[in-house]
Amino acid sequence: VGGTLTKQGEATVFLLIERRFDRSADSPLFRQLYELLRQMIVERELPGGTKLPSTRGLADGLGVSRHTVSTAVERLLSEGYLVGHRGSGTYVSRHFAAQRADRRPAGRAKPGAAALSRRGRDLVSARRSPFSRDEALAAAGRAFQVGLPAIDHFPYARWARVLNGAWKEASAGRLGYQHPLGYQPLRASIASYLRASRGLSCHPEQVVVVAGSQSALELSFRLLTDPHDTVALEDPGYLGARAAATAAGAVAVPVPVDAEGLDVDALTSLTVPPRVVFVTPTHQFPLGVTMSLRRRIALTAWAERTGAWILEDDYDSEYRYGGRPFDPLAVLDQAGRVIYIGTFSKVLFPSLRLGYLVVPAGLVDAFEAAHLCTDIHRPLVEQVALARFMEEGWFAQHLRQTWEIHAERREALLEESCRCLAGLLDVQPASAGLHLVGRLPDGTDDGAVAAAAARRGVDVWPLSLHALADARRGVLLGYGGVPPALIRHGAEQLAQAILGSGQEPGPAKE
Ligand SMILES: Cc1ncc(COP(=O)(O)O)c(C=O)c1O
Repeated sequence: VGGTLTKQGEATVFLLIERRFDRSADSPLFRQLYELLRQMIVERELPGGTKLPSTRGLADGLGVSRHTVSTAVERLLSEGYLVGHRGSGTYVSRHFAAQRADRRPAGRAKPGAAALSRRGRDLVSARRSPFSRDEALAAAGRAFQVGLPAIDHFPYARWARVLNGAWKEASAGRLGYQHPLGYQPLRASIASYLRASRGLSCHPEQVVVVAGSQSALELSFRLLTDPHDTVALEDPGYLGARAAATAAGAVAVPVPVDAEGLDVDALTSLTVPPRVVFVTPTHQFPLGVTMSLRRRIALTAWAERTGAWILEDDYDSEYRYGGRPFDPLAVLDQAGRVIYIGTFSKVLFPSLRLGYLVVPAGLVDAFEAAHLCTDIHRPLVEQVALARFMEEGWFAQHLRQTWEIHAERREALLEESCRCLAGLLDVQPASAGLHLVGRLPDGTDDGAVAAAAARRGVDVWPLSLHALADARRGVLLGYGGVPPALIRHGAEQLAQAILGSGQEPGPAKE
């Protein structure tokens, strides 16, 4: 990194800062940034002479206000960690860095990012999870946490009984290694569930049980791409897919999303044809649109023509509140180019860490080999419990109950949006899933809105966090895990936060 003044250098410095900046932590954002920069300087991750990105660049990139960045930077300037050269920017002080280097006790140097492989560094830089790691907050159910179903209505007692039964079954001689692709009765239950609920016919042998969609993505990108291959991602899109693609060494190329989903014309005209395309056709993440049938047909035909792979992430389509469900791409696919990904994170609970892939028959052995290289197989007891939960009809019952709860919460959010957020946030009534998107005018600093909301105890993710090139701005409002009373309170607080964030309210442009 050391001290270059080139744009490339500044971009690298930004990435170093960004991958360690945790906006979900509890302390004020300026303090976090101050402490992070100070630590990076002290540990010489930012060596003396390094030029910092501009205040504006840092603020935009990290999704915080310029005031947050300048407060942190001014404090570091006053303490001598940074020096400012009028007109040419802000630099890490050489004096300080040299002194610290002298005092560093021999042999105690911590291996930092530089000690990692290139692939390891890519993986670290791709980490950009906005999930809160604060268990107390997660347990309290906070408006408008994204990614949670109604876990406050989870049938704990029944699950505990099933788990206990599964443990008894497993202890009767099943403590050895199991099948890498998953517990056979669970694979069969998943196959019949997909046939009934999605019209997707597959053989249980094609079902691979994995640790949630994230693991499915990681295995798929690793098996299907070589380093530097191009992969096409929806823009804005799912950070988990971007992280898995980057970790595999692939180059992520953004493809725009409009009211019909991924723009297939834009995809087919990419100059370097992608090896893999990642899509969320049923409920595009994060915008919430459903891919039209016309586009679905065009996309599968393109994959057949070019030999590209489609990763279809069907993460929350159980919760559809209107509109027509279209056939999954995996149903339309005649050439075996679609890898279908599902998860139990939204239909049961995310910490279960169970999901599945349906892979073309010719890839089953490859996924088995990849599984043997990672976790060998998922823990047996939870798989046995889940199979039983599905076989006994409790899963279907839970889905019916949570569908009603989620539909009610979605209504509550739409009503509260009309009541408190009209004219401030254009909340789009997506007809599936567990979150809605509230659009802000293009050019709004949605990171500043999210920061202002966080100060009022409301969790929203800025839309820009999910964008590669897309200019749309807004916030994601999760409602699945948020009881109606909290939705009401959250909407009121969010309105205050938008008004107080210094961001000009107004309708979003299409
Ligand atoms: C697009 C998308 N896919 C998948 C998931 C679920 O991921 P996992 O199964 O790894 O918990 C989420 C969770 O928010 C998501 O937004």
